[in-house]
Amino acid sequence: MRAHYAIFSVVTVLFALVNNASPARILGLFPHTGKSHQMVFEPLLQKLAERGHHVTVVSFFPLKNRPENYTDVSLEGIATLGVETIDLGFFENTNVIAKRLGIDRILRQAFDIDPLADMAVDVCSKLVSWPPLAEALRKDYDVALVETFNSDCMLGLMHVYGKRVPIIGMLSSGLMHWSADRIGVTDNPAYVPSIASELTSKMTFLERLENTFVTYYLKIWYRYKVQMKEQEIIERHFGRKIPDLNDLARNTTMMMANVFHSLNGPKPLLPGLIEVGGMHLNPKNGGIPPHIERFLNESDHGVVLFSFGSLLKTSTMPEHKEKTIMKALSRLKQNVIWKYEDSAEEGTRIGNVLKVRWLPQYELLRHKKVLAFIGHGGILGMTEVISVGKPMLVVPFFGDQPNNGAMAEQVGLGLSYSYQDLTEDSFYEAIKTVLSAEMRLSARRVSKIWQDRDMKPLDKAVYWVERVARWGHHDPLHSASRDLNIIQISLLDVAATFILGIILLIFVTKMLLSFVLRIVKVNFNSKVKDKLQ
Ligand SMILES: *[C@@H]1O[C@H](CO)[C@@H](O)[C@H](O)[C@H]1NC(C)=O
Ligand SMILES: *[C@@H]1O[C@H](CO)[C@@H](O)[C@H](O)[C@H]1NC(C)=O
Ligand SMILES: *[C@@H]1O[C@H](CO)[C@@H](O)[C@H](O)[C@H]1NC(C)=O
Repeated sequence: MRAHYAIFSVVTVLFALVNNASPARILGLFPHTGKSHQMVFEPLLQKLAERGHHVTVVSFFPLKNRPENYTDVSLEGIATLGVETIDLGFFENTNVIAKRLGIDRILRQAFDIDPLADMAVDVCSKLVSWPPLAEALRKDYDVALVETFNSDCMLGLMHVYGKRVPIIGMLSSGLMHWSADRIGVTDNPAYVPSIASELTSKMTFLERLENTFVTYYLKIWYRYKVQMKEQEIIERHFGRKIPDLNDLARNTTMMMANVFHSLNGPKPLLPGLIEVGGMHLNPKNGGIPPHIERFLNESDHGVVLFSFGSLLKTSTMPEHKEKTIMKALSRLKQNVIWKYEDSAEEGTRIGNVLKVRWLPQYELLRHKKVLAFIGHGGILGMTEVISVGKPMLVVPFFGDQPNNGAMAEQVGLGLSYSYQDLTEDSFYEAIKTVLSAEMRLSARRVSKIWQDRDMKPLDKAVYWVERVARWGHHDPLHSASRDLNIIQISLLDVAATFILGIILLIFVTKMLLSFVLRIVKVNFNSKVKDKLQ
């Protein structure tokens, strides 16, 4: 009894020690200029500081109200920010020839991504000589959270400044193909659709052909267009060699992806690759502006919310397109709130449509008058929609949006609709379908399944950061698969050996057989001869 008690108290004390371990020194490195990316990470970083850790965050988006023990290292001024920068006119000129040949999708996936490389290389060339960053990297940390998106520059700089701490790769979306390799999880293109594709995990032969090409193209693209260029920038600036950025990347301890399988599809995971989709959702009320609230109050048949997000500038839409959209919207019984930058301060009302410069999206989505959402399929908006359980019409443009649209359709959250092929009738019909009773019911069910978790996503993310801070590389999360090359991991060497073995076996068997046959024949012949004589 006493022994039991002693063991029990030792365990309790140990448990308490582990749980109230001294605050960790956490470094966050986020060199991407897209605001939506930072919106995913911010709640986690703030929560870590609130839990008593010392958090240093390098990013383009310093906080307005910093919690205690939270230090911002601003990258503002290094590059222009990704807010309402993309012109919608860009999406008018679809390549007709490519479309006829059926390769427009492949071309889009292969070339849409190029600006990301230019951005990464440009930012990296400034990061190497940014004094506030150098100062932050000279301090000591227990764990580093590094965005895994279009750049590995920060990994090189951490090495230059001798920061050999466990690294947590942070994704504001699903896995990029190069992130799969560094954590050692398979992204087998036979059933794992490329993040930029319109494919789901069930593919025809031609789709697998497309998916395999895009998957490997993007891996090679990243290696040559980003990693090797950043390596050169760092080595040139500091005048010395550093380990291959790809090797530094493969030292990533664990990774968090901003997805959850019930929306983004079941994909292979590892213990060190966790899904925290929804961790950024903040149900705090910031308030709905009076001009929008008044409009909501006047909407007797409910409201459809319409927004293409923070990166696309809706007011750059060609006039004919806007007219078509307005005509379709005016046929709806419901009212529409449309995020459209060139509108009056108090919103511009045209019939049943209210155009507003800005809207509190998540708050409006949760409002009982709001019935459905029309959006571009960015992962943040998708996450908000699935969490409130309202149906969505996805009008995808680039990046992971086409895939998010395909997934929304597959799981029953909504429909995907092509912006290029937009017509008044089909747009109207698509919205009507999304507003149907069946679709609304389906969206509610999909939402309940999505919300049903073992742990709240933000708590899970916090737990894992603290776990990595506690155990670092003593926790065996490093999958051996990340050290294998493509021949080894595809077992091509083993398959070749087997095939060679089988060929050899057939050859030997044949030789033996003909040898035996010859003996039998000789015997037979001599017996026949004996009989005849
Ligand atoms: C901030 O850090 C100091 C020193 O570690 C600590 O005493 C204090 O409690 C921390 N503040 C919060 C809010 O955790
Ligand atoms: C890899 O990470 C561990 C900590 O998790 C560190 O001790 C080691 O030095 C790192 N290796 C390189 C090459 O940075
Ligand atoms: C809208 O309606 C609610 C509830 O009926 C009311 O409290 C609010 O003041 C109204 N807002 C406006 C701007 O009319």
